Amino acid sequence: MRKDKPSRTAYKVALSVVTLGAKPGMDKILPPGIVDATEKLLVASGAASARIVRWSRSQRMVSVYEAFDSMLPGQFEAFAHRKAFCERQVRGGIGAGATQILVLGAGYDTMGWRLAPEFSGVNFFEIDHPATARLKARGIEAMGQRENLCLISEDLSKRKLVDILKDNESWVQSARTVIVAEGLVMYLPPEAVTDVFCQCAEIAGVGSRIAFTYIPTGTDGRPDVGRWTRLMLWLQKVIGEPWIWSIRPEELGLFLEEADWKNAPELGGATGKHGVEFYAVAIK
Ligand SMILES: C[S@@+](CC[C@H](N)C(=O)[O-])C[C@H]1O[C@@H](n2cnc3c(N)ncnc32)[C@H](O)[C@@H]1O
Repeated sequence: MRKDKPSRTAYKVALSVVTLGAKPGMDKILPPGIVDATEKLLVASGAASARIVRWSRSQRMVSVYEAFDSMLPGQFEAFAHRKAFCERQVRGGIGAGATQILVLGAGYDTMGWRLAPEFSGVNFFEIDHPATARLKARGIEAMGQRENLCLISEDLSKRKLVDILKDNESWVQSARTVIVAEGLVMYLPPEAVTDVFCQCAEIAGVGSRIAFTYIPTGTDGRPDVGRWTRLMLWLQKVIGEPWIWSIRPEELGLFLEEADWKNAPELGGATGKHGVEFYAVAIK
């Protein structure tokens, strides 16, 4: 990804969440409070103007997104399902005894900020690339800090997760943890993805889980997002956030085993795929 500029894809996901707030029926899928919190964060961080945010939460923008959906069928609504999936995993993990939540490549996600007061005995951590984390931190400060939410500004391709968390006094390596990597792994080089999963296993206690989304690999060995794959791969490259990593769903179990995780589709819920991404959960 481009090292100097805030993530455009994180911005796009956040604006899509705002627009989904204007789509009838989506309130049944989106986690409660997410649309208002995302609007606030985008404006307070300076990532988007109040006008853009207002405009995004309109029927007109719903139509625009739906028109683009012909390129990536189902991907607009998929952001609502993706947010709901991650939040279900976090709530489920806390219900099963997790006391730490770590969101990797958090972007403008508001889950930590929204859930921290509800689960005051749980510590929430987020890591993102400095260019995006800087804006996010500004927004969170304006919205009201949470005592149990820690924002960490680091480039995961430059510094090891193990070292980042070793320096953090609140991180407990033996604690049962839920790790979320939503819309992240496709942007990392293959060796970095393997490394991130291995390190996640190292920094979390027994019974931890990792919830993530990924793009499947096509017959040509590249990420496969359907009919418009070539154009999409080119567009992602042009905006400086190319899709690099993907995996065939049938190869996921072995990949996870080699990184000390166990594929746990039974924890993922009924639908393992929305839009172009698969949703997965693994346990330690
Ligand atoms: C598609 S966005 C997803 C944001 C968020 N997870 C969501 O779904 O709302 C990808 C995020 O990964 C972050 N990211 C990409 N490469 C990274 C790296 N090397 N280190 C830290 N964060 C990274 C970007 O800054 C961006 O916020």
